Amino acid sequence: MADETKTAKLTIGDKTVELPVFTPTAGPDVIDIRKLYGQAGVFTYDPGFTSTASCDSTITFIDGDEGVLLHRGYPIGELAEKSHYLEVCYLLLYGELPSPTELEDFEDRVTNHTMLHEQMMNFFRGFRRDAHPMAVMVGVVGAMSAFYHDSTDINDEWQREVASIRLIAKMPTIAAMAYKYTIGQPFVYPRNDLDYASNFLRMCFAVPAEDYVVDPILSRAMDRIFTLHADHEQNASTSTVRLASSSGANPFACIAAGIACLWGPAHGGANQACLEMLKEIGTPDRIPEYIARAKDKDDPFRLMGFGHRVYKNFDPRATVMKQSADEVLELLGVENNPTLQVAKELEKQALEDPYFSDKKLFPNVDFYSGIILEAMGFPTSMFTPIFALARTVGWISQWKEQLNDPQLKIGRPRQLYLGETQRSYTDIENR
Ligand code: ACO
Repeated sequence: MADETKTAKLTIGDKTVELPVFTPTAGPDVIDIRKLYGQAGVFTYDPGFTSTASCDSTITFIDGDEGVLLHRGYPIGELAEKSHYLEVCYLLLYGELPSPTELEDFEDRVTNHTMLHEQMMNFFRGFRRDAHPMAVMVGVVGAMSAFYHDSTDINDEWQREVASIRLIAKMPTIAAMAYKYTIGQPFVYPRNDLDYASNFLRMCFAVPAEDYVVDPILSRAMDRIFTLHADHEQNASTSTVRLASSSGANPFACIAAGIACLWGPAHGGANQACLEMLKEIGTPDRIPEYIARAKDKDDPFRLMGFGHRVYKNFDPRATVMKQSADEVLELLGVENNPTLQVAKELEKQALEDPYFSDKKLFPNVDFYSGIILEAMGFPTSMFTPIFALARTVGWISQWKEQLNDPQLKIGRPRQLYLGETQRSYTDIENR
């Protein structure tokens, strides 16, 4: 727990309560209101948790005003440039960058768990072929607790570790199989001689009829997308994982809950929604019409890939993603890709418009990621599953941290009740 050096006084009517204030290592001070109800008989009201710290954490720090994202203190831009996804996974899970032997050992452990229980193939086959891959992922990851019940005991540290490695290792296999199933192609089994990103690309794009050679530039771009999505502090899906876990649910059930939450278009589904919007706009001359719609209070339309609950400045991940989009599209010889042209022009026009600057709406990580993923050959339905795959390590790191917290309590928010007060039942003939 952070240092408790200050207090805050709250006066309600004629009662004053003194509340402890914690000073974190970075970010704003936090008022501890845990005893507020006991002392003053009031709740706090914070729909959407815009001013509420739900836990203490040492994993990820975001300064939304400055556009800073740090994992265990390391800036995301540096990690994206100098590190790679599995090393970032190690950093998130264990708190420090690994030594060469620690990294080798970790990569071996992950590689050893990439295959799925063969019986799970039958589980996949129970879905309709036209199912969304996210629907398949929610189901299959939840079902892992039925296939790997030797790693569901959350009170056993060894089982927690095995479950963590299993989830990180198997998620690319599950996402790739969800894709293969929905396009009617045979499953491609993992290959442990390939790195994490190359293995995923191969499982998605190889077919038994011909060999698939992974382009190292595409593999690097894939790895960078994974790295940029690895964790993002207490966002909606991570908070969902923590809330599910607070009841003692098993890790596979908790991660399935996180995947379900990520699916929504205001969260992980935004990259799919953003690419669909860019295609709908189609040509740069139609951009003003869409900007006008986004500004119109009577039109529910929003610029997808713009705005963020926490970043009120550039999302640092978007800057790296934009650079990756340029590199990948050049490699593929499609640098004049019309969707990228629309995206760049839309970003320029929106940033020049006072509506967006006044509300501090900037491109977020999803603005460019869809363009890269499409250029790599992924259909839009796979964008969110790829996000889920990459975010799994963040969910698990936060889940592990929560289980080690001696103050862990079941999550149980209260409410501002505005319904009827007690009344007597009216018999149906009298209504
Ligand atoms: N286009 C147009 N106007 C917007 C947008 C947008 N993309 N985002 C916010 N606004 C406006 C709102 O209308 C609101 O205006 P008002 O104050 O006049 O009512 C104001 O900006 C604040 O918006 P809120 O919805 O209150 O902000 P909040 O922090 O709750 O929402 C969110 C953040 C959900 C990300 C929002 O910006 C949005 O819907 N963006 C589009 C979807 C998107 O890209 N999501 C991805 C998020 S990143 C991620 O999950 C990886």
